[in-house]
Amino acid sequence: MTSASVPPTTARAPGARVPPLVPGGLPLAGHAGPLLRDPLAFLASLRDHGDLVRLRLGPRTAYAVNAPELVGTLLKRPEYEVGGPLWDTLEVLLGKGVATSNGREHRRQRRMIQPAFRPERIAEYAKVMEEEARAAADRWEAGTTVDVGAHLFAAAVRIVSRSLLVVDSIGRTADDVSASLHTVFEGLYRRMVLSVGPLHRVPTPAQRRFERALADLHRLVDQIVAERRASGEQHPDVLAELLAGTDADGRPLDDREVHDHVVSLLVAGAENVASTIAWTFHLLSEHPDHEKRLVEEVNAVTGGRPVSFADLGRLPHTRNVVTEAMRIRPAAWIFTRRSVAETTLGGYLIPAGSDIVYSPYAMQRDPRSFERHLEFDPDRWTPERAGDVPEFAMMPFGVGNRKCPGDHFSLAELAILLATFAPRWRLSPVEGTDSGTKIGITLHPKRLLMRVEER
Ligand code: HEM
Repeated sequence: MTSASVPPTTARAPGARVPPLVPGGLPLAGHAGPLLRDPLAFLASLRDHGDLVRLRLGPRTAYAVNAPELVGTLLKRPEYEVGGPLWDTLEVLLGKGVATSNGREHRRQRRMIQPAFRPERIAEYAKVMEEEARAAADRWEAGTTVDVGAHLFAAAVRIVSRSLLVVDSIGRTADDVSASLHTVFEGLYRRMVLSVGPLHRVPTPAQRRFERALADLHRLVDQIVAERRASGEQHPDVLAELLAGTDADGRPLDDREVHDHVVSLLVAGAENVASTIAWTFHLLSEHPDHEKRLVEEVNAVTGGRPVSFADLGRLPHTRNVVTEAMRIRPAAWIFTRRSVAETTLGGYLIPAGSDIVYSPYAMQRDPRSFERHLEFDPDRWTPERAGDVPEFAMMPFGVGNRKCPGDHFSLAELAILLATFAPRWRLSPVEGTDSGTKIGITLHPKRLLMRVEER
């Protein structure tokens, strides 16, 4: 893939150094052990060894980038393509959709989905967001205990299905998709780290659960596509664009490609949003001062009527709470790239075909970029303070040609969900709740059991 604005880096630049090897790797497994046992702490510890370091995953060498400006370069330069362990693993789930393709194919696919994310379309989708947020908030009963994560996950699946894919009869399917996705995402991380060997094929119960959930998910998506084809209904949505779309040779997309697109949008659209909103509720339950300010802000703007998309511009604290939740609890916490040519990055030599990893989680908790880095402080995103954050230290939606097309969609959805639930329900954790981090391809709170009380 080429980019007119970015000149290629010179290969074999004079003085290019070999990045330092992270100490502590074992002879056969390399650093796979800590990456499985405690990946968040391990990835955050890498900055102590340098801005760019080498790791070993079994027989393969990987490169970890730990400085914001180098991550910015990594994401913007054409020599680094989507690839490496994360994407190789995600292909099992996403097939050859927009998130896993490269070069011309990626540009073609991206052009096909991009119209669905135009600003005027977000305003239309927001009607579904408002409706679903209200319906989900109506389902809670005062004095009961709710599994907040599971509940919001189903709401996120319903929102993306009904807005982008106009699947109106999503009811039960939303719960099935949620359950399958949860299992699949958990299994995928193990598979990514173990991808160095045949271990992930060992038929353990976890592996069997993973395979069953993956098959269920694909079956559900086939059902969604088949129902639409059979109905012949015309909706102004992505699915209609895909069914009418053509491939690089002008042929209609085959069922496989339509399927892969739908899976990519469902997965990307539901998983990250659901994880972010669950973390946000958890953080607010730990920070009643910010919860109070948020509720007061929403009530001052709405006067108690349901929140709408048009209100969002007048809810700066709500927005800052979401941004800060995405900083300290990013859903998407690890990304990989593969170098297509020998290059240098920050003066270090990267051979062609190398796997490169970076972690938004580690970067967004780096004390060199964020004062009181472990503190939940939404006010760091006020206009007066936001300028203190170094460039590329906080980019929850990425940057460059792979930047998330769903950024505005997500921010609207997160703010609407939050501003609908928070003024109505007070949440407090109960016995059995576990806000520890469940590590999969995304990060979730383990089990958020909350008692809900009407305000
Ligand atoms: C809080 C919510 C979300 C977060 C934090 C998030 C984050 C990201 C990030 C960081 C990337 C770039 C990956 C890379 O550079 O390798 C990405 C890509 C992508 N996201 Fe999102 N995302 C979110 C919501 C959504 C939604 C709601 C949709 C669609 C409905 C979506 C669709 C996609 C797609 C299709 C890609 C691949 C783009 C490409 O490769 O050209 N995302 N997302």
